[in-house]
Amino acid sequence: MSVITQEPTRAAIDEAVAGLAASVHTSEALDNEFYTRWLSGPLPYPEVRVFAEQFLARTVNTSVMVALSVLHTADLHARVECVKNLYSEYGNGDPAKAHLTLLESFLSDLLTRLKGAPVTAEEIRAAAPLPTTAAFSAGQRELFTSDDQRTVQGALLAQEHLAYSMLTRLYEGVRNYKGVYASDDEFHEACEYFYIHIGEAEKDHKAQAVTSTAAVCRDERDLEVVTGSFRRFLDLTAGYWRGVAQEMRARR
Ligand SMILES: [Fe+2]
Ligand SMILES: [Fe+2]
Repeated sequence: MSVITQEPTRAAIDEAVAGLAASVHTSEALDNEFYTRWLSGPLPYPEVRVFAEQFLARTVNTSVMVALSVLHTADLHARVECVKNLYSEYGNGDPAKAHLTLLESFLSDLLTRLKGAPVTAEEIRAAAPLPTTAAFSAGQRELFTSDDQRTVQGALLAQEHLAYSMLTRLYEGVRNYKGVYASDDEFHEACEYFYIHIGEAEKDHKAQAVTSTAAVCRDERDLEVVTGSFRRFLDLTAGYWRGVAQEMRARR
């Protein structure tokens, strides 16, 4: 007697991946003490400094992770989506618009204004990562260098879906410091890092990650592996923000 197991259809896989991606909104990775504090109003300089140092320490690896997702994903269609994401991280061919460059100049400029004395990007970069930030980076690298492309894609799906909501929240908090800029125009010019992400980049990355994840899934087992890695990335992110919130509390 043969048992015929029915494989999920392409549409069912796409739907499952999209549903998984949407689950970021109810996770502690996005709903946590850090965001509540960040959005509550202008914070004292030492707390903003903690955020800037740890956010840079975490984000410094993002483009490299996308590059690793290209190398560690065998499926051609999935790879092509990752390459588009990587190209955008590096400023669509313009080094001056590389996302990390935009972030560094935003952070050093904001801290300089809040402190009333120069704070360079090098100084922010030189800060030691908290143990929770280091744990995030180590866990992230482990997922993105897995020899199982489903693990890599699960992590990428989480990273890119968290990114859009993370950046809208961070930007809403940044608006609390609008008063330290000479004019509205100056403030908006300084915020290019956020506008690039909210307006286009992260929207594309979200869609690209859904496409690339679905491309490596053929059956229920594939979806299970993707889900495990996706959840692990959410847990790592929640731990990262818990560490930042705790350190900010300590500096109050
Ligand atoms: Fe980016
Ligand atoms: Fe992204």
